[in-house]
Amino acid sequence: MKIKQSEFVISAVGPSQFPEDGIPEVALAGRSNVGKSSLINKMLLRKNLARTSGQPGKTQTLNYYKINGDGVLYFVDFPGYGYAKVSKTEREAWGKMIERYLRGREPLKLVLQLVDLRHPPSAEDQRMYQWLSHYEIPMAVVTTKADKVSRSQWPKHIKIIRQTLGMPGHVPLVLFSSETGQGRDELWSLIIKSAEI
Ligand code: GTP
Ligand code: MG
Repeated sequence: MKIKQSEFVISAVGPSQFPEDGIPEVALAGRSNVGKSSLINKMLLRKNLARTSGQPGKTQTLNYYKINGDGVLYFVDFPGYGYAKVSKTEREAWGKMIERYLRGREPLKLVLQLVDLRHPPSAEDQRMYQWLSHYEIPMAVVTTKADKVSRSQWPKHIKIIRQTLGMPGHVPLVLFSSETGQGRDELWSLIIKSAEI
C-alpha cells in the first residue's frame, strides 16, 4: 500500500459521530499500552499522528484516521482495555460503545486484536478474543513489540499466544514491531485483502 496521505478525522464518543461515507474500516483492539496507536503510526509512516504515550489509558474515544483521501480506508483506534485506574462506570460505558460498534458497524471489515508478544495473553485478551470469535467478526491477532523478544524465541512466544487464546490455525497472526517495521508489509497485505481495497 502506498501511503500518499493520512489524516486524523474525529474522536467519536458515540455512533452519531461515526463517518457516514461507507469507507471500509479496520479497528484496533487491545489492552492499554500494547501499542495500538504506535501501530497506526507505523502503518501510515507518521511519527505522531495517532497519539502515543507511556501513560496508559490515553485513548478514550474511537479515533478515526483516514488514509489516502476519500474512499480508501479508515483505521479506528480503540480505547485500551484493562486500565485499572479508570472507574467501573467509565469502563462499562466504553465496553458498551465498543460492543455496539463491533456488532453493528457495517463498514467494519477487520478487527486487529493486539497482544504483547512478550507475555501470555491476559484474561481480558482471552475474553476479547472469544467475544470476537463468538460473533464471527473477521479478525487477526497482531503480536506487538516483537523487537523486545529475540528472534530465536519468537516461535515459542507465538505458540503460547495461539494456545492461550485457543486460536485455530486459520486465524491469521502477524508478528509486529512499531520500532523496526517488522510485519508491516504482511499486515498491509492482510488489510488490503480483508477490506477488498
Ligand atoms: P492506549 O492508547 O493507552 O490504549 O495505548 P496504546 O495501545 O495506543 O499504546 P501506544 O501505542 O501508546 O504505546 C505504548 C508504549 O509502548 C509507548 O511508549 C510506545 O512507544 C511503546 N511501544 C509501542 N509499540 C512498540 C513496539 O513495537 N516496540 C517497542 N519497543 N515499544 C513499543
Ligand atoms: Mg493509544
